[in-house]
Amino acid sequence: MENIIQDIDIVDRNSHEASETVQTTVEENTGKTKKLYIESYGCQMNFADSEIVSSIMKDNGYDTTSDFESADVVFLNTCSIREKAEQTVRKRLGQFNKVKENKPEMTIGVLGCMAERLKEKLLDEEKIVDVVVGPDAYRDLPKLVESAEEGLKAVNTFLSREETYADIAPVRLNSNGVSAFISIMRGCDNMCSFCVVPFTRGRERSRDPHSIVREAQDLFDKGYREVTLLGQNVDSYKWSEDENNKAWLEKKERKGETVQVINFANLLEMVAKVSPDLRVRFSTSHPKDITDEVLHTMKKYENICKYIHLPAQSGNSRVLEMMNRTYSREWYINRVDAIRAILGQECGISSDMITGFCTETEEEHQDTLSLMDYVKYDFSYMFFYSERPGTLAAKKYEDDIPLEVKKRRLQEVIAKQQESSLERNKLDIGQVQKVLIEGTSKRSEEQLQGRNSANKVVIFDKGVHQKGEYVNVMIEDCTTATLFGSVIS
Ligand code: SAH
Ligand code: SF4
Ligand code: F3S
Repeated sequence: MENIIQDIDIVDRNSHEASETVQTTVEENTGKTKKLYIESYGCQMNFADSEIVSSIMKDNGYDTTSDFESADVVFLNTCSIREKAEQTVRKRLGQFNKVKENKPEMTIGVLGCMAERLKEKLLDEEKIVDVVVGPDAYRDLPKLVESAEEGLKAVNTFLSREETYADIAPVRLNSNGVSAFISIMRGCDNMCSFCVVPFTRGRERSRDPHSIVREAQDLFDKGYREVTLLGQNVDSYKWSEDENNKAWLEKKERKGETVQVINFANLLEMVAKVSPDLRVRFSTSHPKDITDEVLHTMKKYENICKYIHLPAQSGNSRVLEMMNRTYSREWYINRVDAIRAILGQECGISSDMITGFCTETEEEHQDTLSLMDYVKYDFSYMFFYSERPGTLAAKKYEDDIPLEVKKRRLQEVIAKQQESSLERNKLDIGQVQKVLIEGTSKRSEEQLQGRNSANKVVIFDKGVHQKGEYVNVMIEDCTTATLFGSVIS
């Protein structure tokens, strides 16, 4: 019953512009009367949420299907991060419309960030949509679907300060059975000026650490060998046994009272202790919050993977200030130096970059390229700036960089990344690395693929090995995106 989701196009490490990743449910028959199809867009948090949604719907009489035409209920779990992400969803709704013409009883729901951003407006703009449900209101889905079945369109975009779905056991959508996501927090309080997430996901809140450890243990017992702890800003994870209320915690701290809190470094350690054979990854680290304590905890546990996604966005301090990232180029470089000092050269570092943010000059763009030269990222997600309605940047600044300039700068950033990916991958050649096998290689049935600690894909001949095993691989060759080698033990 594990594989209820398939990746149509798993994060394509060769594609440099945004991961236009889509996940859909797969066929599952446990004798339930109704069929649910979910298509998920956007970030890993959305994919993790679709697992919660599947679980809620399963408890209410739905099996999943891979074929939307045969579904009673179709959900699109959507993303608003860039304009293009929303356009993709609108196109998809157009395709669903054709099917619904012959099957009017089909219920169509829009979930996730676009639902939260547009609310009931979506019902006016997209006539085909029956329910609109924001990321904190999924417990209400069965009721809303029922209402739609009775002919009443339904909307719930209430954002909560508490909801973490901690008690809901996600139906694992992850198709490899080796690696799973665990949401450890929701929302974001950072207000980067370009970003829509604080509006679509609401206030930041951390999830009970004991429920996180239980989930990790349960996954390990079921044969999973890797968990990725997810949050928009995992380094600001904070939990008090007394009361999990961020405002309350902050008030106490302001008053100088000592509050016993579990921070992200503590949580990492708790999850790492589940088993030395369970790999622990996490994403995303905000450069303003990542502490040396986290880096030392990573060093202490072999099973905490040596890989940090540390989005810089820009290499220029003036642009960073306009972006409201609350760190400077120097601060960022200091954090990279700390990673190298504590974890060494082998720790993987990746980034997100935005080109052509409001008022960015050619020199400032050059600062992004020079930062990339300094850090030598293993990998980056790179985008040109896309203005999002309602964000601070949309209100305060003019989106004044012409599209061709944004795109040309993006190409330069991509070319720079290609160079450093290759350079970094070449450093792995000749090394023996521990790889967790995730399954058959996409290129050949005779080969397996897995990842090393630094999150790089490694491909090697199958031999007697299978997914879920750890193997030591001698790295012999590489491209910009992949390492190739042979198993030595
Ligand atoms: N919480 C993460 C980012 C989540 S959004 C962090 O703070 O790093 C993922 C990425 O999308 C961002 O890092 C940013 O590079 C990109 N992004 C967000 N808003 C964007 C916009 N308006 N235009 C272009 N890219 C954007
Ligand atoms: Fe958006 Fe900034 Fe929050 Fe990341 S930290 S989700 S970029 S507001
Ligand atoms: Fe997109 Fe929402 Fe994630 S806007 S990137 S799905 S938090």
